[in-house]
Amino acid sequence: MSSTFGMMFRITTFGESHGQGVGAVIDGCPPKIPLDEADIQPQLDRRRPAQSELTTSRNEADRVAILSGVENGITLGTPIALMVKNKDQRPADYDRMRSVPRPSHADYTYRIKYDIQASSGGGRASARETVGRVAAGAVAEKFLSERYGIEIVAWVSAVSTIEAPSPDTGSIIRKQVDRSAVRCPDSPSAEKMQETIMAAKEAGDSLGGIISCVCRNVPAGLGEPVFEKMEALLAQAMLSIPATKGFEIGSGFAGSRMRGSTHNDVFIKKGAHLGTQTNYSGGIQGGISNGEPVIFRVAFKPPATISLPQKTVDFEGNDTVLEARGRHDPCVVPRAVPIVESMAALVLVDLALQQKMRENETVR
Ligand SMILES: Cc1cc2nc3c(=O)[nH]c(=O)nc-3n(C[C@H](O)[C@H](O)[C@H](O)COP(=O)(O)O)c2cc1C
Repeated sequence: MSSTFGMMFRITTFGESHGQGVGAVIDGCPPKIPLDEADIQPQLDRRRPAQSELTTSRNEADRVAILSGVENGITLGTPIALMVKNKDQRPADYDRMRSVPRPSHADYTYRIKYDIQASSGGGRASARETVGRVAAGAVAEKFLSERYGIEIVAWVSAVSTIEAPSPDTGSIIRKQVDRSAVRCPDSPSAEKMQETIMAAKEAGDSLGGIISCVCRNVPAGLGEPVFEKMEALLAQAMLSIPATKGFEIGSGFAGSRMRGSTHNDVFIKKGAHLGTQTNYSGGIQGGISNGEPVIFRVAFKPPATISLPQKTVDFEGNDTVLEARGRHDPCVVPRAVPIVESMAALVLVDLALQQKMRENETVR
């Protein structure tokens, strides 16, 4: 069950890091949506490894193939299978890690849970699993953009202790985000972040960071209280991305230090609807979108696999020193930007379809 996400736009991802391939099956995508590989490939290109010196050098082209559910560039409403073949597998890099669980990786917990492990790499815990999410997320985004004009843009807002000033969330676009390899739209901060990541990489170490995300033109009324509140689903979606450690909606933890008199988002008339003057709520109140941009942040830890020697124990409990081999990301946030956007799209599409069903069922 745990590889499936969503109620109405339901995705199941498959594949291990060093197996034959990875991908997703989408069940519940509405029919008659224009779709081909070119709608999906750009987001996979932004996620792929070896895209800059800031990322792992594992060289995967990550070309997606649509195996079913689409004919003549139009969705049929039947399951859409999306597949990416793995090409650059190097299982030998993981020989040592078969006997020594990497500190803070998933080797130990997977072994305890399943009593068997994928022969190399992190298996399903590897970031390669997220290929399927990004491919499915691109399909969700196509629907959201066509039907609602929804725009989702994420960017790197911090690397380690370097925090960038916030861009204009009303106008930021992916082109601005992609101007730097680190995917931070503020150029001076981007430069510092890149230098810091390169220094950590040369030292054999790793760094964490924060990704911020805005979803614009989300219609008011999406979200299913009480257990499937929009922010609750976003939190689940974001915290299912490997290496995430925190989620904040709107003012987040900083909001706890404010007073109600400044934190309240006062209503104003915006066209035919009510809007708010400020957006500390992050576009969601009572778990339901209020028509303002949905804004959230996701914290990522420094990736676990580092080449510095670490004193640890092997699976038998014997003292050892692990110097990890293999090609690894010194900081995951530049590549995680499209993953955050994709998971946001998957939450929004599911809630949009649920609301549409309710509207169709309502007797007026
Ligand atoms: C884009 C991306 C790339 C990643 N690359 C690596 C990596 O090269 N090395 C590593 O140890 N972890 C990497 N991770 C994180 C691991 O997959 C993750 O830490 C591990 O599965 C344990 O899960 P947890 O951190 O969520 O507890 C990456 C995560 C993402 C999102």
